[in-house]
Order: sequence, then structure tokens, then C-alpha cells
Amino acid sequence: MRRIFCEGPNVLRGHFTPQGSKNGALPLLAASIIFDSVIKINNVPYIEDIKTMISILQNLGISCKFVNNSIIVDSRDIKSFEIDWELASKMRASFDLLGSLVFRCSKAVVPFPGGCLIGNRKVDMHLWITKQLGFDVQIESGNVVVNDFDENHVNEEIKFWIPSVGATKNATFLGMFVSNSTNKTVIFHNVAIEPEITYLWDFLIQNGANIYYDEEKRVLKIGPSKLVHSSVITVDNIPDRIEAGTYAIAACATRGNIWIEDNFDKKYSVKNMLSKLWEVLKEIGVDISCLHDGIEVKIVKPLSSFEISTDIYPGFPTDLQPQMVSLALSVDGVSVVRENLFDDRFVYVGELLRLGADINVVGNKVATVYGGKNLKGAPVRATDIRGGAAILIACLMSEGQSVVSDVYQIERGYESIVEKMSKLGARVFEEDQKPLTKSGQEILR
Ligand code: EPU
Repeated sequence: MRRIFCEGPNVLRGHFTPQGSKNGALPLLAASIIFDSVIKINNVPYIEDIKTMISILQNLGISCKFVNNSIIVDSRDIKSFEIDWELASKMRASFDLLGSLVFRCSKAVVPFPGGCLIGNRKVDMHLWITKQLGFDVQIESGNVVVNDFDENHVNEEIKFWIPSVGATKNATFLGMFVSNSTNKTVIFHNVAIEPEITYLWDFLIQNGANIYYDEEKRVLKIGPSKLVHSSVITVDNIPDRIEAGTYAIAACATRGNIWIEDNFDKKYSVKNMLSKLWEVLKEIGVDISCLHDGIEVKIVKPLSSFEISTDIYPGFPTDLQPQMVSLALSVDGVSVVRENLFDDRFVYVGELLRLGADINVVGNKVATVYGGKNLKGAPVRATDIRGGAAILIACLMSEGQSVVSDVYQIERGYESIVEKMSKLGARVFEEDQKPLTKSGQEILR
């Protein structure tokens, strides 16, 4: 396992270009298998979860190539509808292929998914929706087996009990299959409206899907579709709002400043997709300027402690909750961070304690952070993607040397994090870069 060495404290300063969105590229990859055309997805980050998704698709006999941050998918000769267990166990989004595989092959065998250990991540609603849509769903040896569609057992109007991101993706593809097979419109209520989801719908609509959505009402309507045939269908992935937010928070936590490039369309600009983060940072005293081509994040006065609660979009993103706890450590006073989406998303806190953090977690729901205390470098472990990012931010803030192990977790979601942080002035090194302490001695490994 590779490690990251960090010599602190650090101040992050400079220009930052966000990677393409991880959670945006994954559903576009799932969508690419429903077309009888070659799909080219641009602006895809080269990260572990994308590599895993590529392996899953290749394992199904789909041609999938990664070239210069673009992926070219050709599923016209797809050979299998059974996802490999070992690959599926590496990430949650493997389960999001259920709907598109059914669309393509009329059946699917999908193992229960893996992914970040941030709670009991059930798929019960995915299965319930699939049954409601008229499919037979069986659990066999840890796999979900979907087949035998019966048009006489279709519930055409379905209400989600949670606006689940993953279930909304699957419902989209399953709904398209059902609507094409029955010539009826299928309506879903209380769906997720995260930008990565609406962008998926926009892409499908542009390419022939008969989809209508109302974000305010959280309604999705799907009618019979005629997907376009073209030699190549190209789509530009949106920027990664969570990566951008992570670096903005890291700049604040280290009392630096950062310019985040932001050139995408208005709705999918980082400014717009992260409006809740900018609101919170402004409230605690960060100077935020949203300009047409970028966002400037500057510290001009002492920051105050805060209270936040995570929520579904457009609320405060759960994927920035751990990073905000690290920011709270840098601020004098008591901050309170509530997690409302996942039932165990404070696992990383144990690692922050090794650095000298003072944090109390009650019921895996609320973290009370006693900030403003000196942190000291230590060996720590990345627990999951976002928890790992939070740990790295805390290492940047800590006095002396830290060594972060299980870096793989961070690399599942963040492209070239060491290189990008180094460019912003951080003294961080990868295992094989022979890191030196200030006194010139090699760090103990
Ligand atoms: N849930 C159920 N039953 C279901 C589906 C979901 O109980 O059938 C629960 C989950 O257990 C969880 C909550 O609903 O407690 C939210 O789950 P959701 O389905 O909305 O999330 P997801 O699809 O598993 C995606 C992102 C996550 C992000 C969440 C929330 C991808 C690949 N993953 O997960 O991203 O935190 O939405 O926004 O898009 C990350 O990038 O680090 C990450 C974890």
C-alpha cells in the first residue's frame, strides 16, 4: 500500500482546475451501454473508481478505452449481463449498472455492491422499484438476479421513500425499458435531483430519450424513447463539485487562498452546484468572490465556529462533511456537524484524534468539534474517499511529519492529489519521492 508523507504546517495558495466529476462520469458510463453507438465521454478523471468501472465494462465484453481523460465506449458487441463479484465489491456504483444492463440485455446479474464503509448502505429500494416495474427479482448467492419482465405487473406511478441517488439512476434506465416495452409513461416521485443525475437526464434527452423532469417537485416522467444512432455520440462530463469543495475547504483550513477555475455552463458550474458551501463559508468569515470564470476563496479575518447539517441536494453535501470537520479543527470554539444521510460517516474521526484533535461523536450522527487546538503530525490511515481527504487536510494543518497510509482510498476519488496539493505549495510527497524533513533527513518509514 502506498503512503503520502506530509510535512506541516502548510498554507495552500494558488490556481486550481477541478477534475471531471467522479459521480458524474459513473452514470454516463452506465448510460453508454444503452446506445447502439460509440460513446465518447470527455473530462473523466483518472481515478481508481473509474478504472474499476472500466474493468467491469470490459469484463462484460464491452470495448472501453481511456485516452487523455476521455473514455470511448463501444457496447455493440456486449457479451454478458453478469457483473463480476470481485470488481463489484470494490465500489458502490457497480450496482448502478443494473438498470442499464436490463435495458440492454432484458436481464442482469449484479452482486451486492461494495464501496466506502460509511454505513449500512442498503439497496432495498432499488429492488422494490425493480419489482414495482414488473420484473422478477431474486437474490442468489449474493447476487441480485433480474429477469422475466411482465407488462401486466407494472406500477406506472412509483413514489421513492428516500430520494436515493443510486436508485434514481436505476429507475431511469428501468423506466426507459418499461416505457419502450409497454408504450406507457412511467412516473417516479421523490427522486434525487443531484446535478450528476439531472446531467445524466439532460444527456439522455439530447440523445432521444423521452424524459421530463421537474426538479422542484422531484418528479421524473419517462415515455417511449427512440434513441439516436450516430457513429459517435460525444458528451462533456461536468466538473467535480466535491473535489473543488475539498480544495476550497483545505485552503480555508490552512488559512491560504485559492482561485478555482469555473468555465462550465451556468447550471453545472461549480459556483452553482456548491452554492450551499459558499453560503456556509461566507457566514464563518471567508471572503468568497464568484466571478464568471472562477471562484476566489480568501481568508481576510479570523474565522468563526459553525453548525452544519448534511442534506440531499441542494442542501449541504454529505461528501464534504468530513472535510468540514477538519476545517472546524482550525477554528477557535465549538462547531457542530450533523450527518443526516449515512448512518456511519464519522469513522475517519478516530484518525483525526491521533493528530491531537478534540472531537466527540454521539450516536454516529453528530460530531462536536472543539477547535483551535494544536495538531501534531502522526501516522494515520485513510478510511474512505472523503474521510481520507479530511485526514489529509488535517495533516496539512498539523505541526511536523504525518504519514497517511491506505492512500488507495483517497485515490478512488481524487486525481493526482499529491501533485495538485504540491502545486498549491503543500509539502506532501508520495512514498517513492524520498521525502525530506526540514532538516534534510529522510522521514522514518
Ligand atoms: N438507501 C437505502 N436504500 C436504498 C438506497 C439508498 O436505504 O435502496 C440509503 C443509503 O443506505 C444511504 C442513503 O439512502 O444511507 C443515501 O444513499 P443514495 O442511494 O442516495 O447514495 P448512493 O447512490 O449510494 C451517491 C454517491 C455518494 C454520495 C451519495 C449522496 C455515487 C457513486 N455515490 O451514493 O458519493 O455520498 O450519493 O449524495 O454517486 C462519494 O463520492 O464519496 C460518495 C460516497
